[in-house]
Amino acid sequence: MAVFSLKSKLAAVSIVGLGYVGLCTAATLASGGIRTIGIDIDEARVDQIRKGKAPLHEPQLDAMLKRSIRNKLLAASNDISSAADTDTTFLTVGTPSQQDGSIDLSYVKNATEDLGNVLREKRGYHLVVVKSTVVPGTTNGTVKRFLEQSSGKNAGSELGLCVNPEFLKEGTAINDALHPDKIVIGSNDKKSADHLIRLYKRFYGKELPPVIITGPEAAELVKYASNAFLATKISFINTIANIAQQIPGVDVGTIAKAIGLDPRIGGLFLKAGPGYGGSCFHKDIQALINYSQNNGYDPTLFRATEETNEQQANRVVGMAETLLGSLSNKRVAVLGLAFKKDTDDIREASSLRVISQLKKEGAHVIAYDPMAIPNTRKQLADQISYADNPRSALKGADCAIIMTEWDEIAKLKAKDFQAYMKTPNIVDARRVYDPEEFSQLSYAAIGVGLVNPRQGKPNSELS
Ligand code: UDX
Repeated sequence: MAVFSLKSKLAAVSIVGLGYVGLCTAATLASGGIRTIGIDIDEARVDQIRKGKAPLHEPQLDAMLKRSIRNKLLAASNDISSAADTDTTFLTVGTPSQQDGSIDLSYVKNATEDLGNVLREKRGYHLVVVKSTVVPGTTNGTVKRFLEQSSGKNAGSELGLCVNPEFLKEGTAINDALHPDKIVIGSNDKKSADHLIRLYKRFYGKELPPVIITGPEAAELVKYASNAFLATKISFINTIANIAQQIPGVDVGTIAKAIGLDPRIGGLFLKAGPGYGGSCFHKDIQALINYSQNNGYDPTLFRATEETNEQQANRVVGMAETLLGSLSNKRVAVLGLAFKKDTDDIREASSLRVISQLKKEGAHVIAYDPMAIPNTRKQLADQISYADNPRSALKGADCAIIMTEWDEIAKLKAKDFQAYMKTPNIVDARRVYDPEEFSQLSYAAIGVGLVNPRQGKPNSELS
């Protein structure tokens, strides 16, 4: 059944899996005049999208969805057979971790098999593009095998197959999709790469972002290398921050600024903090480590990246203990739960690691976040208390820990903490405050080697 009538089948794409990547890709392509069908097995999700409401928080996304649906450029369906009305299908289903960290390909397998069944009767060329993050060899192995078996066709002249990883970030996903720094295409044959480039030219115009064309395995590895590098950059600066924190008068921000001016290093992704979170970094590094170990090579560096990240949460709790002594029965306000600002996403958020540690130490946790409380409630229920605003979280607290750099939290002044807290002990895990302004309070920040004016010694030595 056609979801909408297509003037030109050539410009129609289907997107299977309407999670973060799938939905943002669908909305963006449709906004650029490409007729797009978004497909997902979750009926409630599809219904919501049809109404122009994204099932996740992403700036610009709702407006873009509404406009594209109104203009009949975007439709949502839970019927994968509508993929046959298009000539390109992007696979954007999730690739979660299994217990041992290895990649779980069950969604990829199911989606590929369902798509192959639909393509069995289709006449004419159809390109399948793997956009899900998959370990090297998956496209030419599992995906190709499932697709060929279920469609009864061979990948090649009738059935195109290529890899096209996605690099968008939550919070800036639409802008990232509109202005990517590169397009990476991994294909076995020129026809499928050319077909995808033609589609992107319709969208971006003749001046495409830099295009890297390579084989499927290399394209698959590019995505892992990108995430592993970024995560390692964060663990690197967090390591320097932990060293800087021991040295009175040294601020890791200065170090990051100076080294970032070297173009070989670059200034982005050098913000020290409580460790990275989000749906990709941990999952993908674990999958890469597991993949590599199975091939006989242990990537020590990436294990250290992950271990450094885990430990960073303990450092944050350790800083609270340095200020307060025992945390048992202390009231600790956690300001910010989301893994970064402007999202309601708490997947792998460092706040969760910190909260778990605080609970182990016997603290009472009261948390505030402008968006992420509903998601946190689903996970932690009444293990912690929740506040409606930062001030009520701070009320009567023995310690406040800044876990997400929300503007609303960064705007708080030293006097707000003084006015509401029982004792103004502040652990600034996101380095959002000016240490000078907070120097009259009991204040410690990641990567800032303070001389505490109350006691005349560095925070790291306070007990
Ligand atoms: C990441 C990648 O950036 C993106 O290319 C990939 O497609 C998906 O994974 P995302 O998870 O949305 O995107 O968030 P990102 O902005 O990369 O931040 C990840 C985590 O690193 C956050 O917890 C953030 O707070 C932290 N971070 C980031 C730092 O601690 N310091 C920094 O300098 C940058």
